[in-house]
Amino acid sequence: MTLQKLGVCYYPEHWPESRWAEDAAMMKAIGLSFVRIGEFAWSRLEPRPGVFEFDWLRRAIDLLHGAGLNIVLGTPTATPPKWLVDRMPDMPALDAQGRSRKFGSRRHYCFSHEGYARECGRIVELLAETFGAHPGVAAWQTDNEYGCHDTVESYSDAALCAFRRWCAAKYGVIEALNQAWGNVFWSMELTSFEEIELPNLTVTDANPSHRLDFQRFSSDQVVAFNRRQAEIIRRYSTGRPILHNFMGSFTAFDHFAVSRDLDAASWDSYPLGYLERSPRDEDFKARYMRVGDPDYQAFHHDLYRACGRGRWWVMEQQPGAVNWAPWNPAPAKGAVRLWTFEAFAAGAETVSYFRWRQAPFAQEQMHEGLLLPDSEPNEAYHAVALISKELGNLGARVETARSQVALAFDYESAWAWAFEPQGQDFSYFELVLRFYRALRRAGLSVDIVPPTAEAVADRKLILLPGLFAPAVDFVDALTKSGATLLIGPRSGSKTSDFRIPAELPPGDLRALVDVKVRRVESLRPGATIAVAGAGCFERWREFLDVGENASAELVSEDGEAALARSGRAFYLAGWPDESLLRDVARRLFLHAGVATLDLPEHIRVRDNGATRYVFNYGAEPTDISDAIGAAALSLGERILEPRGVAAAHMTRRE
Ligand code: GAL
Repeated sequence: MTLQKLGVCYYPEHWPESRWAEDAAMMKAIGLSFVRIGEFAWSRLEPRPGVFEFDWLRRAIDLLHGAGLNIVLGTPTATPPKWLVDRMPDMPALDAQGRSRKFGSRRHYCFSHEGYARECGRIVELLAETFGAHPGVAAWQTDNEYGCHDTVESYSDAALCAFRRWCAAKYGVIEALNQAWGNVFWSMELTSFEEIELPNLTVTDANPSHRLDFQRFSSDQVVAFNRRQAEIIRRYSTGRPILHNFMGSFTAFDHFAVSRDLDAASWDSYPLGYLERSPRDEDFKARYMRVGDPDYQAFHHDLYRACGRGRWWVMEQQPGAVNWAPWNPAPAKGAVRLWTFEAFAAGAETVSYFRWRQAPFAQEQMHEGLLLPDSEPNEAYHAVALISKELGNLGARVETARSQVALAFDYESAWAWAFEPQGQDFSYFELVLRFYRALRRAGLSVDIVPPTAEAVADRKLILLPGLFAPAVDFVDALTKSGATLLIGPRSGSKTSDFRIPAELPPGDLRALVDVKVRRVESLRPGATIAVAGAGCFERWREFLDVGENASAELVSEDGEAALARSGRAFYLAGWPDESLLRDVARRLFLHAGVATLDLPEHIRVRDNGATRYVFNYGAEPTDISDAIGAAALSLGERILEPRGVAAAHMTRRE
């Protein structure tokens, strides 16, 4: 098992070369192992068409490597230079209004533009050929944050042609597409694939089946774009893992699918920026403004661990205030350390901070780094030095354990409910996060999984909130598994073509739980449906016919089944508030035989192998004895300081 490591994002092209050696020495001195470079440097690598200046990059790699650092080399394809855009003015994506995205920031390209794909192939091949076997190059990052700034979907001609081909390959004959999309409705029938349009600028909503296929197509374009780079890199750089840095709360493409071409997943964790952008209420934001949502980072750690099939990194970790959220507070003392250990506890191989030195120029000059713009150490510099000492003392090794609890996450479901929310606050992402929160509040370490047969084998408890169209083999696997299941709301309520299933929702899942959803309603903010003795539904509720083989475990005050059960399968008929969710979760834990903890609101726990980590997201010192029993601590104290981290060696579940 390898040791867990620290890294940093660095832009040698931003600084005088005379400064590089000192930077490298300082990085090494605070215990950094990895340095990511190069991902935005195209204009310096190829300043004019076909004129390559790779020498500076070679000198940077040599110098960093010589100082004992391992390089993560980024491909520069998120920032095509001006000359390239001028040569191919149709290469930027068109937004849903049909406007071209302009040069002057980044990500100004369309995933379907074949000319741009060729240009990317060219620069990536040259880079991989030149540096792929360099002993200092330890890993690769493809592009940067696919989809950032709303760049997955493009309504360009290139996208239109490619989408028509995609539809022809999927359906074979146009009649099949008409049938699948239900095009008889509103006379939307087509007579050939050449008549297909993109689903933007329609008078009212475009057909959800059309939109879903367009999103599948757009996601496939990201997969193909990434695969092309990964295949080139692999030819020249054997043995070096290829990663991509994903984002938080981002669902526009299927991250499981992109990750299949990667060796490990990674994501960019900005706890304070993400909290400020989130739909959480003002009290919550005020309370956690300097440490972030206690569950948000962990959720993504678990999601990306699944994407990377166990291997994952934090490629960019927030070190101080960022520049891009509506408000940008500074982290609390201890927060950077807490975030770092939360990632390591979830099995991260590496946590890398963004960025080394704050840039005094251009768009991100208000974004803090480990160093101030004048190269003096900023707060996070000292925090990282401490973390690396602690890691050394702990001898922390990369470890991940299979959890008994699995929570399904499915990108198609996120798309489906965005296209047909039915109530404007029905967000799949929020729904799944809400369930995750309830599991974590009970002290559970969770695996977030794709809805596949393999992912749900050997679990005690499996949750499938809002899973729109489960595949037949997945339903089979659920039927064969002995796990306790939580299904609904909205699970199985469509076919994969985006139709209501013939047998009505929950479709094929009715084989597991004998209920039929006969009606649904969405609820405006503040409107709730009380569920006797348990809590209430908000946002969404369903009316069930409870069959002979099911019983109503909870009933709403207006007499409808709120939680139904057939054997080990439960069906939840709405969007639960916190109290109802706690009640439902308790029933599930009991039924599944899963041991839980009763934690204070601001304390979180993560088991990794025999080590139990405890995190204090609160501002008060808190006694954590209930969470660790008599176990000895290798990090932290029993009275855990605000933003503190403890690690205990557990011999048995206390
Ligand atoms: C990330 C991005 C970085 C930088 C950073 C600022 O989204 O990958 O390049 O922009 O945000 O927080």
